[in-house]
Amino acid sequence: MAQILEQVRAEYEQLKDELNQHNHRYYVLDEPTIPDSEYDRSMRRLQDIEQQHPELLSDDSPSQRVGGAALPSFSQVSHAVPMLSLDNAFSEEELEAFDRRISDRLNYKDDQQIDYVCEPKLDGVAVSLLYNQGLLVRGATRGDGKVGEDITANVRTINSIPLRLNGDGIPELLEVRGEIYLPRGGFDKINAAAIAKGDKPFVNPRNAAAGSLRQLDSKITASRPLEMCAYSVGQFQGGETPDSHLNMLKALGSWGFKINTYVEAVQGIAACEAYYERMQKRRDQLPYDIDGIVYKVNDLGLQQRLGFVAKAPRWAIARKFPAQEEMTQLVDVEFQVGRTGALTPVARLAPVFVGGVTVSNATLHNGDEIARLGLCIGDTVIIRRAGDVIPKVAAVVLDRRPENAQPIVFPENCPVCQSSVRRVEGEAVARCSGGLFCGAQSKEAIKHFASRKAMDIDGLGDKLVELLVDRGLIYSPADLYELSATKIADLERMGEKSAQNLIDSIAVSRQTTLAKFLFALGIREVGEATGQTLARNFGSLEAIIEAEQDALLEVDDIGPVVAYYIRDFFRNPDNLSIINALRESGVSWDDIDITAQDSQPLKGQTWVLTGGMEIMSRAEAKDRLQELGAKVAGSVSAKTSQVVAGPGAGSKLTKAQSLDIPVFDEEQFLAFLEGHK
Ligand code: IVH
Repeated sequence: MAQILEQVRAEYEQLKDELNQHNHRYYVLDEPTIPDSEYDRSMRRLQDIEQQHPELLSDDSPSQRVGGAALPSFSQVSHAVPMLSLDNAFSEEELEAFDRRISDRLNYKDDQQIDYVCEPKLDGVAVSLLYNQGLLVRGATRGDGKVGEDITANVRTINSIPLRLNGDGIPELLEVRGEIYLPRGGFDKINAAAIAKGDKPFVNPRNAAAGSLRQLDSKITASRPLEMCAYSVGQFQGGETPDSHLNMLKALGSWGFKINTYVEAVQGIAACEAYYERMQKRRDQLPYDIDGIVYKVNDLGLQQRLGFVAKAPRWAIARKFPAQEEMTQLVDVEFQVGRTGALTPVARLAPVFVGGVTVSNATLHNGDEIARLGLCIGDTVIIRRAGDVIPKVAAVVLDRRPENAQPIVFPENCPVCQSSVRRVEGEAVARCSGGLFCGAQSKEAIKHFASRKAMDIDGLGDKLVELLVDRGLIYSPADLYELSATKIADLERMGEKSAQNLIDSIAVSRQTTLAKFLFALGIREVGEATGQTLARNFGSLEAIIEAEQDALLEVDDIGPVVAYYIRDFFRNPDNLSIINALRESGVSWDDIDITAQDSQPLKGQTWVLTGGMEIMSRAEAKDRLQELGAKVAGSVSAKTSQVVAGPGAGSKLTKAQSLDIPVFDEEQFLAFLEGHK
């Protein structure tokens, strides 16, 4: 009995060790070595053992990251070594003055340079982590620098924070300091979830990180993808202290902490400046927010000699980047009509310098966004421009709302063509119902109409379409067929010959196919493939115009949303009159005999494509199969007729084989298509 227990204990210790190591590789080094499924299996085994032998359970078990019940409140923690803040340098001159101050204090000669470590200033929340004999025993916020709050349960949920340190030379007592932050991707995810639930989104990743750490229920913290980078040490007892800051960071890295990858040791203040310029260029591409650069004297002996003033060390300074958030006033809201008729509210702002550029407009996306922000014209707003280039209205400063603030009214009619504005249920976007009749949409509609995969009008590029519309020569695609060489010969850069060439290619485009014509109309969600499907299933334009919702839904690949758009398009009298005008000016095609079976040899069959394809793209393969009448499905079942499996095919191929479903490789598939042209 005792022997079996020893075996279980050994297995448990080994699993714990392995899982902690995988965790470190995945969250700290970004280099996972096993698939998630394998990790999950080991974790389940560990949890099984813990359930059967609760006496084995220990605090550093990876199953113990999310702890028990929510706390009634946070308790207070005194920092044995105060958590200081940093002085700021706002210009190159101030940075040079910092360097001179240090050189003077250390009695350096003019040609002697100081060794600095440059680090990104991460924009998150400072944290102190205490390790006793290598085991995480306490996590605390900075608070006022002397007294903070105990957030141990919350920090334990952060996967890049080691629960137990690993490696050589671990001191008996170690207090690690660093920044807990939320990468931008995680911020977007949390905010999208908040919006979906009808909650207010966070203004920026720092607020989201702080809010996530302030939770009394650590399960909430666990659901937020927070990260932690170590940048210094507080208490350090019972071990050998490294001689430099850089070596300290290296030691922390070797014990399991994440260290920012851009940390760099340089000589002299000029190199610090160069680092600043380099990082400023990189800033927008980083996956997390940084608000400046921190410079630290590298030699820990010199740090000690330099000491502290008031609340900040003499041996370090922060140089801030231009702010990514600023306040300004919302002067007005205008509504732009886009390509698909979508009305986008655009904030007109009192110009403000933010994130390195002057911003005077910001998109407000849609009506829901305005409601969520609770925005009024005249409000003071916070503009955020970070990482992405598009500035956003992040929040309203309610305290500053003026008495004459005006509510924002969504227009009922299109500001361009006066057609009514409609909002589809369940969609946030409001659209102009004017279709091809709407001036704002017509340029885009004509460009699309003339494009290669649509009516393929050679020589009619985007610029020319804009010119023709701006000159009042055309309003809708139908007007193209009324153009003559004499009418367009006066346009800039248009000689007699090119004018005639254009008229000729417009004439040639009259003969088309039903599928291309349907695609050319620019019906929402009706791409090339859906154009083909519609043509094949209905045979004529009349049949499609008259098709009821049910008939459309019977067609493979047409769901309720597409069916709605198709019906909506053909119920609009303006669209119908443009279609009539096109037909009257000679646009024509051959209707398709939908009773003929031979064009659909795969009718009734369901095919599945899996794995990679090397010669033909997957999209093309799908189109070709649909043209032949097959349905293309995403998963294999007993109803599957044929599977095409490329390199890397996995479970779908295995399932097909177990169900005895015939399988083609890509070569066989291409040969098959060749025989069905
Ligand atoms: S060193 C005594 N290094 O900036 C030195 N701080 O006022 C203490 N911060 O809230 C800080 N990145 O959390 C240091 N690489 C970095 C940092 C950093 C961000 C934050 C820190 C504190 C503020 C300093």
